Amino acid sequence: MEYLGAHLAFKSRWHKTDEELCRHSMSFILHKAIRTDFFESYLYLLERHPLVKLYAMTSEVIHGEMQFYARARNFYKDVPATEDGMMGDFSELSDTDIESSRDFLRRFVGGPGKAGTDFALDCGSGIGRVSKNVLLPVFSNIELVDMMEPFLEEAQSYLDEEGDRVETLYCYSLQDFTPSIRKYDVIWIQWVSGYLTDKDLLDFLIRCRNALKYNGVIILKDNVARQGCILDPIDSCLIRNIHILRNLIEKSGMSILAEEQQPGFPELCIPIWMIAMQ
Ligand SMILES: C[S@@+](CC[C@H](N)C(=O)[O-])C[C@H]1O[C@@H](n2cnc3c(N)ncnc32)[C@H](O)[C@@H]1O
Repeated sequence: MEYLGAHLAFKSRWHKTDEELCRHSMSFILHKAIRTDFFESYLYLLERHPLVKLYAMTSEVIHGEMQFYARARNFYKDVPATEDGMMGDFSELSDTDIESSRDFLRRFVGGPGKAGTDFALDCGSGIGRVSKNVLLPVFSNIELVDMMEPFLEEAQSYLDEEGDRVETLYCYSLQDFTPSIRKYDVIWIQWVSGYLTDKDLLDFLIRCRNALKYNGVIILKDNVARQGCILDPIDSCLIRNIHILRNLIEKSGMSILAEEQQPGFPELCIPIWMIAMQ
């Protein structure tokens, strides 16, 4: 009917309305209808599913997924394989970070109904700062995954003889990595979630959930924006607010066991949160 209406509208202006003009008027109407429908469904989704908002927000700040990942890789090419490199020149805060991580981890492992102490996975491990100080003292075996080969090479000497208990070092980007099913008691994801887009982080969390043993726990520790979603243009890292993180965790089918803000960091530092989930 719309097509006929357009046809008549044209006909009243041009007496010689032919078949071709008719086709143009139809595609114009169709185009307009699709566009309207698209925006209506998009607005509907925005209201119903907050995640649609997240994707839109992330895509807006990262300016293209390929560039986003390439910039981070480029940044880490020049980062030294040292504790200072892993801490972004804040190595004096490493001990405080480790102490809080150990306390937080203790709440979820070793005991009835808690995670076992057999196997842990350190995601975005870098040289293995977390593995050495938080995971190896608790777990019999660990594995590391990071996208930068030089960091994993350094890990072998940095972890010293404790490194014998490292089963595998995986050189992978987390967005392409699938941890083995039901292998780990704890999966630790520190200062790396911001390098993944919302969609890739959500998919990675789902794969990690599948890689947990019975009573296993995932611990995510990262910078958290006071508001919205900020992109650090230097290392191409997204800093999400706590609501966005909670939303992604909920969408991954997990529930949050506990959340705690990192104490003891200078006021000026961006807040850091630890979130345990399963
Ligand atoms: C700030 S460092 C933190 C290292 C370690 N988690 C720690 O707390 O000491 C970030 C690490 O994430 C790694 N990384 C960044 N983007 C990644 C990605 N898409 N996949 C895997 N690793 C990534 C970097 O190579 C680097 O080792």
